[in-house]
Amino acid sequence: MDIKLKKVNSISGIIEVPADKSITHRAVILSSLAEGESIVRNYLPSDDCNRTIEAFRQMGAEIKIDNGNLYIKGIGLKLKKPQYGQYNIYAGNSATTARLISGILAGQNFESIVTGDESLSKRPMGRIIEPLFRMGAKIISKRGFLPLTIDGKSLLNAVKYDCNKSTAQVKSAVLFAGLYADGATTYSEPVKSRDHSERMLKTFGADIKVNGNSVTIYPARKLNPQDITVPGDISSAAFFIAAALIVPGSSLTIKNVGINPTRDGLIEVLKRMEANISLVSHREISNEPVCDIEVKYSKLKAVNIDASIVPKMVDEIPIFVLIATQADGITRISGAGELKVKETDRIAAVASQFKKLGAQVEAIDDGFIIKGNVGASLNGNLLDSFEDHRIAMTLSIASLIACGETIIKDSSCVSISFPNFYEVLENICK
Ligand code: S3P
Repeated sequence: MDIKLKKVNSISGIIEVPADKSITHRAVILSSLAEGESIVRNYLPSDDCNRTIEAFRQMGAEIKIDNGNLYIKGIGLKLKKPQYGQYNIYAGNSATTARLISGILAGQNFESIVTGDESLSKRPMGRIIEPLFRMGAKIISKRGFLPLTIDGKSLLNAVKYDCNKSTAQVKSAVLFAGLYADGATTYSEPVKSRDHSERMLKTFGADIKVNGNSVTIYPARKLNPQDITVPGDISSAAFFIAAALIVPGSSLTIKNVGINPTRDGLIEVLKRMEANISLVSHREISNEPVCDIEVKYSKLKAVNIDASIVPKMVDEIPIFVLIATQADGITRISGAGELKVKETDRIAAVASQFKKLGAQVEAIDDGFIIKGNVGASLNGNLLDSFEDHRIAMTLSIASLIACGETIIKDSSCVSISFPNFYEVLENICK
């Protein structure tokens, strides 16, 4: 489905964004592995999270949905072999499902197959195959891509794994596999990636120790069921933060947003750009920091960002490029080569579509160079989302300041992470 959007006068209101995608995946996984009944309140009912829910239903967890909450009767650490036609576990578009589940399948005493859609089948899986192979799982793949045939082993080898990139999906796969290992498994990474798995493993009773960018997990006999509440997703809030910052006269409050220090890179960078943004009512929910965000239209200054902060805002880079087009000066983004292996090549996708909008965005090997200025005008055009949810939402926000009409192809892919994105947008546009 394509969508047509037009320039708006301003945006204002008080909104909430849907629950955090990363936290929802982990809550479903650990509740399914626990012994007894867990509740996951305010879960994210998006396509990606539904893939994880379905996968664990097939492996024996009883998962009921009632009034926006999940009621999960966990089956324990040893799952049932999935009985679903040719493809045992279908991860759809969700790399988080495919990679995190592989860590758990590595520790099962059955063989399973993980598959995905066309986009996911082009994304690298060698990064999880390598450490899981070292831990003793046999994984057969087509040159490092899905489908993966995983021949699990009930007792894996504990390893010390030093990853050369910062990726929470690989870290989580190894930590989950570590629950089934014969000793302490230690994982380290160059810059700390999102730590929702570490926090939630601790909540569910796993023995886990964090020391800077290194984490050690000990084998578990059982996990204890929990009552978890999922906060709003900062990666979804980012689109509306951007809208309020770049549409003149705007003022917006976003309530109940997770503000985990491994995810708050965008806020840090916006403050450096002199954005009018405040984080208020700080609190903690289910071992995750949460706040409300107040943001107003701002005259922004350009900034440089590099590999030291990219992991803290990796999913926000496309929308950050839009913000940078509206900031005075040249913004350089480097150390973001991982964007090439997301749902689409986000460096190529962003550069090509911003060119159509008339913005000065140049792609470089590991990022972008953006020549921006406050109030820089964009021109509406026919744009391609490449069926990537974050590209579709970035281009939709760009259309709010673009002259004339903008049409975005395949905009329905927003359901991957933010099913009611266009309803929320409509309600705040004046
Ligand atoms: C995620 C980790 C990140 C992120 C993705 C969700 C997670 O991917 O981009 O949207 O939930 O662990 P990488 O691990 O590839 O950096």
